Amino acid sequence: MPPSVEMRLGTADDARACNDFHNSYYGTSRTLAQWHWEFGRGPTDNGTIPFVIALADGRVVGTQALIPIELVDSRGAYWSGKSEETLVAESMRGQHLFDRMYDVLLAEAQRRDIRFIWGFTPASHAFLRAGFVIPARTSQVFCCFTNDAAKQFRLASGSARGHRSIDTLASSALSLYSAVRRGFKPRLRKGVVSCTGLSEPPSWADTISHDFVGEWGGTSLHRSKEYLDWRFFSNPFGRPAVVAAFVGDHPVGWVAFGMGEDRTASIVDLVAVSPNRGAVTVDDVIDALLREAMNQSRDMGAAGIRAWHVSNHPFASKLRRRLHAFGWVSLSRGFDMVVREIAADGDTRTPVPMNQFYVTRAFTEGSSF
Ligand SMILES: CC(C)(COP(=O)(O)OP(=O)(O)OC[C@H]1O[C@@H](n2cnc3c(N)ncnc32)[C@H](O)[C@@H]1OP(=O)(O)O)[C@@H](O)C(=O)NCCC(=O)NCCS
Repeated sequence: MPPSVEMRLGTADDARACNDFHNSYYGTSRTLAQWHWEFGRGPTDNGTIPFVIALADGRVVGTQALIPIELVDSRGAYWSGKSEETLVAESMRGQHLFDRMYDVLLAEAQRRDIRFIWGFTPASHAFLRAGFVIPARTSQVFCCFTNDAAKQFRLASGSARGHRSIDTLASSALSLYSAVRRGFKPRLRKGVVSCTGLSEPPSWADTISHDFVGEWGGTSLHRSKEYLDWRFFSNPFGRPAVVAAFVGDHPVGWVAFGMGEDRTASIVDLVAVSPNRGAVTVDDVIDALLREAMNQSRDMGAAGIRAWHVSNHPFASKLRRRLHAFGWVSLSRGFDMVVREIAADGDTRTPVPMNQFYVTRAFTEGSSF
């Protein structure tokens, strides 16, 4: 007879037990500081966080959490939840513990006015059973800088080891192709777009976040000053470089990027708006930001660089066209995106169909670039 299982919302005091449960299953060494950064956001007055713990005989046997994340659309910002820490001890599987944890979490999400839950997972069956839908799948866009880029990229995306000679051949061909494509790109007119590295979240972040959905429509992360500070500048897993673009002294976009230990760089996030100044176009802005990310990544020693493409949101489609113009190639390798709507009194804010949803690697949990 399986032991009876108690379910409850966690608090900061549960950090060690839950973090040990995670590290022992995945063989990782996530720190307590990283756990608190990821799950400690928005505790209630009594200290509970949107983190469900399943306990049997006092031992943690299951976890399911939400990271509160603000999204924004033309009607303004609203709270959503990123599904995270989906884990049931192997000995306790097959008893629908996941569904039961989500029942507790959904009630907490409603209390917190979280309007929409989303995540990325290989365990799609479990999420479908728990009432989620799968409107999209992540995919990659990739550019090789060196001959070992493909091998590094395989390592980065956790896919099976390839055949060394094929990887090298592919990388050489891809890096040659990308160099040729970049060679044909029209030179950026000097000084039309200037780029500057940011050491802290800019005061104009909220304005660009609203202007972005105002111009491109749909929904995306609310890239507020508070969000950028948490997700990028205070990230204990690794702080990406953040470079902003200006036309004159007017901010028109930024890019966040970083390189992992496997020498694969990633564009974590990129937004741009039309400068409406002279003949400078939003393509000029995107190209300037891409050049910065590619040049600085190469200077960091990256073998290649990748980005996500998840939907045909107007800006996502434009960005992919610019990436292709720089010699990047698309690769249909990724995970299912799962979403679940939480209708509060019938007023749904769910950004489905996906071509209204601009999704980047900033939507990941932030433990890698
Ligand atoms: C996902 C999980 C919490 C569900 O636990 P549960 O409620 O006990 O349900 P089960 O273990 O019976 O899994 C339910 C279904 O999800 C599938 N599934 C679970 N983990 C999976 C994974 N990593 N990849 C693919 N499928 C997975 C199971 O095969 C099962 O499919 P079925 O219904 O076709 O038989 C548990 O399986 C688990 O901890 N998996 C490993 C960790 C994981 O992959 N988490 C998701 C990371 S985003």
